[in-house]
Amino acid sequence: MTTAAVIGIGDISGNHLQAIVDHPAIDLVAVCDIVPQRAEAAATQWGVPGFTDVDTMLREAHPDVVHITLPHNLHASAAIAALKAGCHVLTEKPIAESYGAGAELARVARESGRTLGVCFQNRYNDSSQAMRRLVDDRTYGRVLSARASVWWHRDASYYQASPWRATWREAGGGVLINQTIHTIDLLCWLLGAPESVSGMAANLTHSGITEVEDTATITMQHPGGVGSVYFATNCHGENAPVEIELVFESATVRLQDGQLLAATPDGDVEIVANDLEAEGERSYWGASHARLIADFYAHLSAEKPFWIDADAALVSLGVLRDTYIASGLVPADGR
Ligand SMILES: NC(=O)c1ccc[n+]([C@@H]2O[C@H](COP(=O)([O-])OP(=O)(O)OC[C@H]3O[C@@H](n4cnc5c(N)ncnc54)[C@H](O)[C@@H]3O)[C@@H](O)[C@H]2O)c1
Repeated sequence: MTTAAVIGIGDISGNHLQAIVDHPAIDLVAVCDIVPQRAEAAATQWGVPGFTDVDTMLREAHPDVVHITLPHNLHASAAIAALKAGCHVLTEKPIAESYGAGAELARVARESGRTLGVCFQNRYNDSSQAMRRLVDDRTYGRVLSARASVWWHRDASYYQASPWRATWREAGGGVLINQTIHTIDLLCWLLGAPESVSGMAANLTHSGITEVEDTATITMQHPGGVGSVYFATNCHGENAPVEIELVFESATVRLQDGQLLAATPDGDVEIVANDLEAEGERSYWGASHARLIADFYAHLSAEKPFWIDADAALVSLGVLRDTYIASGLVPADGR
């Protein structure tokens, strides 16, 4: 059995905890939250010791793997502490609140001899895997261009529940870094790390509620002359399904309502993949956390390293840094 602990018992932690206890080869040994009531409640619910301090938890529970589900500005320091204690780390996205902090974590992870994985679970969606195959196999020829958009809803109650989400210091941004970095990650994974980025981000309707941006537009130039256009907002009235469109030489492939469709010029439309539907109020997180977590643990004993590492996660963080600098939202040294 591989032992695991989870640090940060907030909204997303349940996805990690459930996947851990459902996995036959993972043994949950500790939970940790700085708020004693949260640590106690989780300890009772999951039947393991609860801690309020990361270093004490690492020393006393010494888990094989630490899951980090903390506010963004605490990811890098908690991950570095865990790596230095000899643990493998699976951290929620983003790897850090800034590119600089993420790059430092990547350096420590590389030198640690341990595995650091990043929770970009949407890469495991059936639609994402199918898009990857279509790109690799050139079923419809080369990709010519792409577009993607995320129209989501966040109101004051979301930020009041966890005030860190509204601040540059703790979250490092808003709709881009917190809600929609997944879709930027998918575009960069499918089309290659961008060679150039032009982005604008602003707080259009959430001033008074948040410091951070609520809407952004980004264009990227990927290798081979492939351009992509991306739009994200959390000022919409609902959490609409993520839309991604890849224009290939002989078909247009579109993710729409969780279904991947390929339309050819002769008018044929084929269903290429159907994503699993997640249940509950937060179904927009998707249903792939358990898949990613199982794959991460499988790689701990495999020769091939886990593929979504800190360096992979720095690509989307670099897109955000460039957009925030161009928008005058962070200093020009890029943090
Ligand atoms: N992959 C996804 O789809 C997805 C979805 C939601 C959130 N997330 C990510 O998960 C992370 C957490 O987000 P959330 O919405 O669950 O946040 P949250 O505010 O609900 O939970 C964070 C928890 O961390 C605890 N905490 C704060 N400081 C601590 C410390 N020093 N030591 C121990 N615990 C501490 C808080 O008390 C809180 O319980 C973020 O990185 C977020 O971007 C990912």
